[in-house]
Amino acid sequence: MSDRETHTHPLVTVSGAGSIGESVLAGLLGSGYPAARLRATVRTAEHAGHLARSYAVEVTTDNVRAACGADVLVLAVRPDQAEAVLAETVPQLASGAAVVSLVAGLPLDRIAPAAATRVHAFRVATNAVSIDRSGLLAVTPGRDVPEPVRDTVTGVLRRLGRVVAITEPQQDTAASTLGSGAAFLALTATGIDRAATEAGVSPAVARAFAADALESAAAMLRSSDPGSAAAWDGLATPGGITEAGLGRLLAAGAVDAMADAVRAAVTRAAELALPTSP
Ligand SMILES: NC(=O)c1ccc[n+]([C@@H]2O[C@H](COP(=O)([O-])OP(=O)(O)OC[C@H]3O[C@@H](n4cnc5c(N)ncnc54)[C@H](OP(=O)(O)O)[C@@H]3O)[C@@H](O)[C@H]2O)c1
Repeated sequence: MSDRETHTHPLVTVSGAGSIGESVLAGLLGSGYPAARLRATVRTAEHAGHLARSYAVEVTTDNVRAACGADVLVLAVRPDQAEAVLAETVPQLASGAAVVSLVAGLPLDRIAPAAATRVHAFRVATNAVSIDRSGLLAVTPGRDVPEPVRDTVTGVLRRLGRVVAITEPQQDTAASTLGSGAAFLALTATGIDRAATEAGVSPAVARAFAADALESAAAMLRSSDPGSAAAWDGLATPGGITEAGLGRLLAAGAVDAMADAVRAAVTRAAELALPTSP
């Protein structure tokens, strides 16, 4: 590794390279991040060996060693492991390091308690399946995080996808929408499957129709005016085929049902979240 790499690439440790943590590792490597500036941990030696061989990155079961001198710790263990792993790793981090937690429901003040002034906490909501640089990472920095630390974390996260800033109370909504929203849309898309197969289309082609419709919908939403009440405004020709179908969906309360599903997920996320420190 050159001196330039050491200087320009913060040392990143991913604690818990499971489903989402492995996506982070793969995403950073795929963006050209030097393997020598990455480390990861998992619980079992077998998994560590498998990841180390697959990615040619240092992967161990030793959180303390892996965190030693790291500039950014990406916390990606399950919620029940989070605070034990923080207790092991935070004292090992470089002074002024960032702890970027992907753990759903773990509040900022439990990621970096007030006593741990040597590290800066960030909460990130994202979706493992979209973490291929096209996905979204909704980030909340802790209070008073210095600009250079924010820049470092943003620089790392931008290698994984588009970064948007949200407040901490919005994290449950982000986690529910990014995590569960795809499942809600996939559920409604099975209606496309059903109608197409009933018309004699093969199940494989019907599923491809549904997936293509969802991709087109994403492109439509991204280019729509966020101020307009309805993303499809102006796209349906009066009296045309799209309008005929939209009319059925609106009459069936599809928009209200989706909003209700998101509210239910957010309520459940809040119930499952750990309380902030007393
Ligand atoms: N999956 C998602 O879509 C998603 C999205 C956003 C946020 N999250 C959050 O990400 C976290 C992980 O979720 P996941 O779905 O990725 O879970 P997961 O696949 O079970 O991954 C957890 C990983 O943590 C490792 N681990 C367990 N205990 C450890 C310890 N003490 N030290 C180091 N590593 C340890 C496990 O190692 P072994 O493999 O060896 O058991 C496993 O690889 C959760 O807190 C979740 O809220 C997940």
